[in-house]
Amino acid sequence: MSQFVLSSFRGRLTNNVTKITFKTFLFRPLLLSHNFSTTTPNNSIQNITVYGSGLMGAGIVQVAAQNGFKVTMVDIEQKFIDRGKEIINASLKRIAKKQHKDDENAQKSFIESTLSNIKTNTDSLKGAENSDLIIEAIVENLQTKQNLFKKLDESANSNAIFASNTSSLPISEISKVTKRQDKFAGLHFFNPVPQMKLVEIIKINQTSEDTYQSLIEVTKKMQKTPVTCKDTPGFIVNRLLVPYLLEAMRLAERGDASIEDVDTAMKLGAGMPMGPFELSDFVGLDTLKSIVDGWRKDGKIDAGLVASVKKLDNLVKDGKLGRKSGEGFYTY
Ligand code: 3HC
Repeated sequence: MSQFVLSSFRGRLTNNVTKITFKTFLFRPLLLSHNFSTTTPNNSIQNITVYGSGLMGAGIVQVAAQNGFKVTMVDIEQKFIDRGKEIINASLKRIAKKQHKDDENAQKSFIESTLSNIKTNTDSLKGAENSDLIIEAIVENLQTKQNLFKKLDESANSNAIFASNTSSLPISEISKVTKRQDKFAGLHFFNPVPQMKLVEIIKINQTSEDTYQSLIEVTKKMQKTPVTCKDTPGFIVNRLLVPYLLEAMRLAERGDASIEDVDTAMKLGAGMPMGPFELSDFVGLDTLKSIVDGWRKDGKIDAGLVASVKKLDNLVKDGKLGRKSGEGFYTY
């Protein structure tokens, strides 16, 4: 196998699950209430390959497998795959306990049936054989993503749809190295994937209606709610969320309020599940910085909104990346 793209082929947000304590999880089937067209796509998706076994990649694998898709999780090294499996196992255990409170057999069978839908592979090309949908959740580097998709374009099933889970790079740029831009879109999940119900579907000009409908169908089958967005910086959520997180950092940097009080204020005064500093640590400070740096370079967003924040830059420089490294704005 060529090691082409695979220099740092790991999904973003490789968090340490052992450091995260969550309450138990109550599985709630999602009632979808949006008004998407009911056109049936020509190619119904059954086999999915996910590239990247970090928090996002593993989460996508899990949610797909839980909902009956056959999924292959691909990463460059077995140790990353093992880490991805740990993330999936920990999450499935929580869900099983919630879903089947006092029934250990039912818990076991839920976990086993989900895991039976998951295969893994460290061979980047073989991992996509027979795949109907390929979702990329690897490192946020344009060249690395383009290299992967270029190779896959030559080797994957010609009908396979390609999707990127990028949070910061233009889908049109990633896709332009392939000859299947009609079968290309963004599919942006949110952390933690098993819990967050949204998926943004990013259409580029070339994305065909059939591809779009297939992606709507697939996200609904994963019990997620899809929304649609053009290929604009940050799509919907990050375009609004990231400037808000930066503004919170600027507020604290000016000394207007402490980070603890800002977090308390936004939780109790605005109903946010996490304050902006908790959320920044949760997302990963390196991820945030790379999003903002990319936007600044791109020049499409108002400069004031993406002005750098010294504290964020310094934390990242010191390797304090948030929860995943044990320290960010808070210590874990
Ligand atoms: N697997 C399964 N279930 C999980 C889970 C996981 N990995 N993580 C959390 N959960 C479930 C819990 O089991 C619990 O379920 P319940 O409500 O049925 O009991 C529920 O989520 C809440 O978890 P906890 O009770 O343990 O903890 P909290 O109440 O503190 O919630 C949280 C944790 C869900 C992370 C919540 O704080 C939250 O929603 N935070 C905001 C997260 C957010 O904004 N994410 C988006 C970030 S932006 C992004 O991802 C885009 C990227 O491009 C940067």
